[in-house]
Parts: sequence; structure tokens; C-alpha cells
Amino acid sequence: MMKGIAIIGGTGLTSLPGLRIDEERIVSTPFGDTSAALIKGRLNDQAIVFLARHGAEHTIPPHKVNYRANIWALKEAGAHYMIAINAVGGINLSLNPGQLVIPDQIIDYTSGREMSFFDGEDTPVVHIDFSEPYCESLRNFLLDAADKNNIALARQGTYGATQGPRLETAAEIKRMAQDGCDIVGMTGMPEAGLARELECCYASISVVANLAAGLAEGEITMAEIEKYIEQGMGEVSQLLETVIASLHV
Ligand code: HPA
Repeated sequence: MMKGIAIIGGTGLTSLPGLRIDEERIVSTPFGDTSAALIKGRLNDQAIVFLARHGAEHTIPPHKVNYRANIWALKEAGAHYMIAINAVGGINLSLNPGQLVIPDQIIDYTSGREMSFFDGEDTPVVHIDFSEPYCESLRNFLLDAADKNNIALARQGTYGATQGPRLETAAEIKRMAQDGCDIVGMTGMPEAGLARELECCYASISVVANLAAGLAEGEITMAEIEKYIEQGMGEVSQLLETVIASLHV
């Protein structure tokens, strides 16, 4: 059987330009409902399933997303490859707003989220290996797709996942930089860990929306974040179209 492909849309990507929709389905899972209807369709004539992480109208904040329902439903819909789109702040000063990053590591600073499928009273204790939190083969497909499109993205980076929904303090970002974080976002975990628990091949296209707290003059505004996400989204679409074509070969 063909390995299915899921795209998990983040801030700035509640729908997928160019997606021909075949079926929209609300799904319930043992862990509750997904953020939005699962959309089965074709991008450039290639079958994919799309899910808007924050809901179709972008109303679910990062700490309220039902990550377990989302990943469970995508797996059940046949997805093996999962490509997540994440808006992030840039901590590493070599990153510019609007630029894309394909992260290779994660530090999880979130708290109080449901973050495992293996937490029932009656389920066995399972410790998945998470040394390399992103699927290296999917990362390589994304990097090849970037090369084919002459997209100058950052080929690795450590994603620091914060609880939100507030942005960070300048001191928190300073500490995260010392920890080795290159980017900061609110949705990278537990999503990546849950995908690994279900043995899916998961990677992220992170879009730098702003310089993280304390790294630029003045406040971080939603207007700035939205502007740079929109700027990066053209390259995200190119990457997705190319990578989906190569995953289908
Ligand atoms: N911090 C956390 N999450 C984010 C940011 C940020 O600066 N920008 C976009 N998502």
C-alpha cells in the first residue's frame, strides 16, 4: 500500500492553496475530536490529507490543540509521512524573518499538555527512542526539494517548544539561546513525539515570523508575524509541491 502524506497547517496556513478537495470529514478518536475536518484532496494531482492545527478559522491556541486526536486521526486516515508547518521566532541571529528552517532537534519547554498515547492505566509502559526527534528521510526529502527550488533555507536547527500562548520574555530567550535553541515556537511538541509514538515519519517546515523576544527593538506584533509568515508561505507551497511529488515516486 502507498504510504499516505499528511500536511499539518499552522498559523498562516489554515487552507492549502492549490488543493483540490475530494472529501472533508470530521473525525472523532478515542482522544476526542480533531482541530478541524480532515481534508482529503490532491495537490498537483497527488493525494494528501490536510489538517488545520488551529482549526479552520484559526481559533484554537497552541496549548488547547488536541494533538493526540490530530495525530491519531491522520494516522488512521493512512498517513505515514507527516509534514508540519510551524510559525517560529528566530533565536539564532543568522536567521531572517520570512526564512524557512528544517529543524533537526527539539527541546520541550511545554507543560501540562496531553503528550503521550501511552498513559492509560491499562496500557504497558512504553519509552520510544527520540534521540533524533524528526524523521531523517523526510528531512532529506525536504532539503532536496529546497535545492530543486533554489530555496536558501536553514538545513538544521533546534526547535524550542514553549507553552504560550504568550510570547517569551527576553531572559527566557537568552536562556533558550544558551540551551542551544535556534528557533522558538508553541506547537512543535507534543506533536512530534506523538507522531513518533505511532511510528510515523514526521518533519517540520518552520517559518521564521519574527526575531524572538529581546533580539529586536520594540515589541513583537501580530501584524509583523503575519506579514513574514505570508512572505514565507510562497516558499512553503513550492517545497510542499516538490516534496509530495518525490514522495509519491
Ligand atoms: N515565540 C514563540 N512562538 C512563536 C514566535 C515566538 O517568538 N513567533 C511565532 N511563533
